[in-house]
This record gives sequence, structure tokens and C-alpha cells, in this order.
Amino acid sequence: MYDNTVAQKIAKQYQQTPLTNFSSITLDTDLETLNLNWRENDLPEMARTKHVHRLHPYMGKFIPQLVEIFLRKFNPKLVYDPFCGSGTTLVEANALGIDAIGTDISIFNTLLSKVKTNKYDIELLDKEIRDILKRMSKYEKDFLNDEKVNKLFTTKNDYINEWFADRTKKELLCYLRLIKDYEYQDLLKIILSRSARSARLVTHYDLDFPKKPQKTPYQCYKHGRVCTPVQEAYKFLSSYSIDTLQRVKEFNQIRTKADVKVFHDDSRTVDLPKGIDMVFTSPPYIGLIDYHDQHKYAYELLSLKNNETKEIGPAKRGSSEEAKKEYIKGINDVLLHTRDYMTKDGIMVIVVNDKHNLYNPSNVGFRSIGRVERHVNRRTGRRNGAFYESILIWQKI
Ligand SMILES: C[S@@+](CC[C@H](N)C(=O)[O-])C[C@H]1O[C@@H](n2cnc3c(N)ncnc32)[C@H](O)[C@@H]1O
Repeated sequence: MYDNTVAQKIAKQYQQTPLTNFSSITLDTDLETLNLNWRENDLPEMARTKHVHRLHPYMGKFIPQLVEIFLRKFNPKLVYDPFCGSGTTLVEANALGIDAIGTDISIFNTLLSKVKTNKYDIELLDKEIRDILKRMSKYEKDFLNDEKVNKLFTTKNDYINEWFADRTKKELLCYLRLIKDYEYQDLLKIILSRSARSARLVTHYDLDFPKKPQKTPYQCYKHGRVCTPVQEAYKFLSSYSIDTLQRVKEFNQIRTKADVKVFHDDSRTVDLPKGIDMVFTSPPYIGLIDYHDQHKYAYELLSLKNNETKEIGPAKRGSSEEAKKEYIKGINDVLLHTRDYMTKDGIMVIVVNDKHNLYNPSNVGFRSIGRVERHVNRRTGRRNGAFYESILIWQKI
């Protein structure tokens, strides 16, 4: 699919300046003219992870500017993302005053999407975030000295006992117990999960896919010296509290009254309202990521229900011929189901790395009205390296 012609076009576009004036996009913008080959300088990480987009790490999300461009181009009334993940489409739609719906099979992802798009009383949120930390640090003094307090913060959960140092575990379990006393419990759960992720017994160079806990000092490839695994969670809880508050405040400045609904469901069968005039989505790529597994610490700590057997195209399943067949059926079932809720001539935009050429609009009642290719030259974590991304633009027939 990514033949020489595409590579040549992209190489030529690299000589020119890519689009960065996003608000210049209108209904009249010609898709052919779009140059979306951003390099780090054109679209720095800070812009890609602005306000709530960085409330919690999530591997496999698209950049918010991509969503903004296509929402401005098609200007829908109601946009739907059947694989909403960390909620990028929903946040961007809300900022533009567009009603949005998202579905995801992973309950942690829907929690994150809800927390990002929720409306907050900032004063109350500020008070709660500080209060829970203060109460936790009071308990902390007794963790070691008082047998009774110490016992309160133990667990039989194997994962938690294995992947966290003793003090870390107590701090996390203490924060978790206190959450129920607050209004904004979901947001506090996200601060807790993000802190737990950073405080696991892992090496600095393998935060994404750690295979076993690292309990002793180790030679760190990232920092070029001997590093010691983290022994506490408080410093993360404290700094992520400030960061989260700041990010929510920033989004609050541009948040509109547009409606956002998030469903925890299988997008092959979820019940949706009619009237969806645009879909903007990025399906799981075949055999690349296990979406439940990447947030395992959160599932264990928050006792979340695991629905991983319903994930389409998980890494665990690989990309054999059998897996490909299953994947195509899964994706087509989602697209056909979604189509039933779309308006006449509704637009479907799919961001995908379709190296196996698995996406065919005519199989699911759409026709292609455009295709934009872009070169992705910047990824974080272990998936460093270049790859192409296609933006498929279809219309309902
Ligand atoms: C590529 S990610 C989407 C990322 C999203 N665009 C973002 O920016 O955060 C694909 C998502 O599809 C979800 N998914 C996989 N199978 C699903 C299914 N059967 N129903 C609903 N969601 C599913 C995964 O949990 C994952 O969050």
C-alpha cells in the first residue's frame, strides 16, 4: 500500500512546511493539499500532549491536532468514536462545541475518557486533591509504628504484592481507601493509577512492557548509571496531583457545553442514538497492543472488570492468517453496526496503519472519498522508529 508514489509524495512534502494553522481549516479545504508530515519542531510534544491529553499514559493514541483538522473540515453535529481509547476525539470535539460519543471495551479507557471530558467545580476539585494528600501523609507516620494501621494497608492481591515495594504499596492502598470520601472519585483514581504506574518495581527503560519486577539496583540504559527501583509513591501522588489540577484547569478554559457520552461496551453491539453524522476513529492495529494489559496495575489496584477477550486484534493473538480473518470480521462488524446509527451520507474517517490492506469500504456500505497519507516520525517508548499512517475518508452509501 505504501508504494513508491506515496513515499515520493511524502518526501516532497517534507521539503515544505506542514500545516500548523489548524483553525484555517474549513469545509472548503481541499484534502489533497493537506501536508500532515509534522516533525518534532513543527508540532512539539508539548502541543501534542496539551491540557487533559496527558492525564495518564496511554499507548496507541492519535494526536489531537489530527482530530481537530478533520472535525473542522467536516463540521459534524454529532461525532462518534467506536474505539475511543483515552478520549482524544471526545476532548477535541468538545473544545469545538461538537457533541460526541465514545465506546471502548476497556473500562480503564472509558474511565480516563470520562475524567478528561467531565465538567468540574475547580475550587472543589482543588480542595479535594489537596485534602486527600494531606490525610494520607498523616497516616503515613503510623505505617511503620502502629501495627493496627499497618494492617489496614495490606492486600492479598499477588500483582500488587509482587510489583510494588512495601512502602509504595501502603501509600497506594491508603490513598485508594480514602478516595470514597470525595466527590471527584474518578479523577482521584486516575491520579492514583498514574502514580502506581510510575512507582512500580520496573526499570526506567522499560515502563511500557515490563516482564518481571526489578527489586534490586540495576545498570540503567536510559540514565547510563546504576539506578534503584522506586520505593515510594507519595512523590508521584503529589506531583501528579498538581499536574492534573493544572491540566484540568487549562481544559476548563476552553471546555464548551457540548455533550459528551462515554460507553463501556463492545462497539460491535453497543446501543447508540441515531443521528451520528461523522465517525472519527483509530481501530486497534492487528497484533500490536494489548489494551487491557498496558494498564494492568490500574485493573489490579482498582479491581476493574477485565474484558480483554472481547478486544479486537490484541497483540496476544498475533497477526497470523487466522488472526487476520478474525480481525477483519471484528472491524467490519463494528463498522456495519456503527453505520446503522449514521445519517444519510455520513462521513467515516479512519486513522490506520493498513500495511496488510485490510480496510475495504464497499464491504461495509461505504465508498471512499479521499485518503491522506502521513509519515509518523516521532513515537515515544519502545515503538520508536518511522512508520506511515493513512487517513481513510469514506461516505455512507
Ligand atoms: C488505537 S486505540 C484508540 C486510541 C484513541 N484513538 C486515542 O486517541 O486514545 C483502539 C481502542 O480500541 C479498543 N477496542 C478494542 N476492541 C474493542 C471492541 N470490541 N469494542 C470497543 N473498543 C474496542 C481498545 O481498548 C483501544 O482502546
